[in-house]
Amino acid sequence: MSKQADVVSAARMLDGLEKALPHLESMASLESTEEGTGDLLSRLRRSLPVIQKEPEAKGVMVTFRDPTSAQLQSFLAEQAPAANKVDEAEGGGLEAKFDSHDILGWFGSFFTWWRKIKPHAWLPGDAEPAKFPDVARVALMADWGTGMYGAPVCARSIEKDKAGYNLIMHLGDVYYSGTGKEMADRFLNQWPKVAGAMNRGLNGNHEMYTGGQSYFADVLPKFGQKASYFALQSNHWVLGCLDTAYADHDLAGDQAAWLTKIINEAGGRKVVLFSHHQPYSILDSQGPKLVEKLGPLLNAGKIHAWYWGHEHHCVVYKKHAQWGLMGRCIGHSGFPEFRKPEWGGAPTKASWVELKGANGVPDAVVLDGSNPYIKDHETEYGPHGYVSLEFENGKLTEIMQLADGTEVMRNQIA
Ligand SMILES: [Fe+2]
Repeated sequence: MSKQADVVSAARMLDGLEKALPHLESMASLESTEEGTGDLLSRLRRSLPVIQKEPEAKGVMVTFRDPTSAQLQSFLAEQAPAANKVDEAEGGGLEAKFDSHDILGWFGSFFTWWRKIKPHAWLPGDAEPAKFPDVARVALMADWGTGMYGAPVCARSIEKDKAGYNLIMHLGDVYYSGTGKEMADRFLNQWPKVAGAMNRGLNGNHEMYTGGQSYFADVLPKFGQKASYFALQSNHWVLGCLDTAYADHDLAGDQAAWLTKIINEAGGRKVVLFSHHQPYSILDSQGPKLVEKLGPLLNAGKIHAWYWGHEHHCVVYKKHAQWGLMGRCIGHSGFPEFRKPEWGGAPTKASWVELKGANGVPDAVVLDGSNPYIKDHETEYGPHGYVSLEFENGKLTEIMQLADGTEVMRNQIA
């Protein structure tokens, strides 16, 4: 039996919660319950429309950008196998099959677990960048922490790549809410093992739904990583790796000043940024706090390229008209994301669909195709994949690859 269920359905959560909540609320009003119960109940009540809104295919993983809903998913995924309430999921893996009685029964332990969630202490990073080789290969994955579908396939392709890698980096999000078990099963146990490579993980909003506790306490020590933000520097490049999740879609601590100092002292080196959240997007929300804090660097044309995740598509933007920045969203490494109906039927071969930018966001292309790793739902979901970067002194080549390693785009961006 798996240690936790892989999939927790939104429809089942909604049904269970809608039936269980009135009972829980009447129990809470009758008894002198522990402080915080009312707060959790009202949060769960507020999560109902969020859960309801999320489209899902039967038996395929779905999650929410809502802490309480994602926390409940983690909890249900863990409780269901112990209560023998799991079954094969349609899209692969095991699905939790709980009902409203189970939710009622489990509520006490969910409340105990939930009230202990506190953010992990912020860890200060190194002031100076660490050394990075002039000739180096980097593998990037983002929103990869499902342990399912294309995610393990990406990891095996990275391991098998004959050219090897110097750095393997995840740009954040381990589902549902980055608990210790999820970090072990969906992330650390699946992480690609490449001899000689440095391993790095950035923080994501889903890790922070459990306060980033396991991210900071388990992942960072395992990776030999001091903090959730850091910089690497070769003779030609600065790689600025940011934590945009500790403060949601923002830069916590002194990251903006820290990065500015490093870049001001970088001489003629070009700068590439990596983060979980986006500075801008065509398909998702914008990142005004990031743009404001890094405004002077962006306006001065100091940022050459920026790779981010959070949104589960692969989107390659044209050069930003004002900032000269090349932005790439690469959050397509393992989470099932629906294709858009306006893109038409799924092409048999992965291909690129043009997207029109607006309000200063550049035009882009998005990777479209089917997803062979989501059983019986292949044509509903976009492809999974990862990105390889090849640094060769001042030259930088990016290679977008499908989960099986197939190359779908190659650009020399410097
Ligand atoms: Fe995210």
